[in-house]
Amino acid sequence: MSNEVIKYYENYKEENRITTNNSRRIEFLTTVNWFDKVFKDSLNILDCAAGTGAYAFYLADKGHKVTATDITPRHIKYINEHLKNKPYTIHTSILDATDMNCFSDETFDVVLNMGPFYHLTNKDSRKKCFEESLRVLKKDGYMVTSYIPRLYLNQMIVMSDEQYLDKNLLNQIRDTGILKHDDPKCFWTDTYYSSYDEMQDLYKKYKLEIKEHFAQDGLLPLFHEKADQWNDEQFKIWFNYHLSVCSNKSIIDMSNHVIIAGQKK
Ligand SMILES: C[S@@+](CC[C@H](N)C(=O)[O-])C[C@H]1O[C@@H](n2cnc3c(N)ncnc32)[C@H](O)[C@@H]1O
Repeated sequence: MSNEVIKYYENYKEENRITTNNSRRIEFLTTVNWFDKVFKDSLNILDCAAGTGAYAFYLADKGHKVTATDITPRHIKYINEHLKNKPYTIHTSILDATDMNCFSDETFDVVLNMGPFYHLTNKDSRKKCFEESLRVLKKDGYMVTSYIPRLYLNQMIVMSDEQYLDKNLLNQIRDTGILKHDDPKCFWTDTYYSSYDEMQDLYKKYKLEIKEHFAQDGLLPLFHEKADQWNDEQFKIWFNYHLSVCSNKSIIDMSNHVIIAGQKK
């Protein structure tokens, strides 16, 4: 795991990312809309890249038993601070999701792996992380992975700044999905961009029964200047439309963030 990722998040306000405006909160709302449909009973849930706990707190508020871990110390500190005002506890620790030997096999009903997959540029590390998540998941449990499609990404970067209208950069993202912090035109940190087909194949390879595959936000972050001006009624119209198409393959590959979820058999 690269220290660059930790360095990036130590200097970023992750707590504002999916809450502050329409083009961002759609990611959170779409995701919890699915959680609410599927996670009914009180479940034992591991959020192994919990960030500042948006999903961990949401699920704990609903009565689930949540363990929240993350590689970034600032994030775990933030969760621990906010836990002081809660009537429940969340088990927290700083942990690299490529090695979860602190947890026994088949401990959790759900593993949320929502972050590492798009920050691990090394194929073996992604494999380790995926296999660790699967190992600690019970049979019939839900393995939930989020990723960022490379076909979406190239459009986003050229819209953000003309310096990224660079043949080598666009081809690199399209062909390898890898961006390193020391690449000459790095626009983020160490990251890996994937695709609908790659993730379907990965889930099938590990004999997971795919239950859901959906765009968390679609193209909305690309037209954020418009979307962030919408009032709640206008946002609701788009949100309901988005929910009706977010499992469509072409929408998925054009989404900023995507979730694939499957059951361990
Ligand atoms: C964009 S945030 C996502 C947070 C939250 N899961 C969500 O979906 O909103 C990505 C998170 O992944 C964490 N992360 C990246 N690589 C990791 C690793 N190898 N092990 C654990 N956490 C990692 C980062 O520290 C960060 O909190």
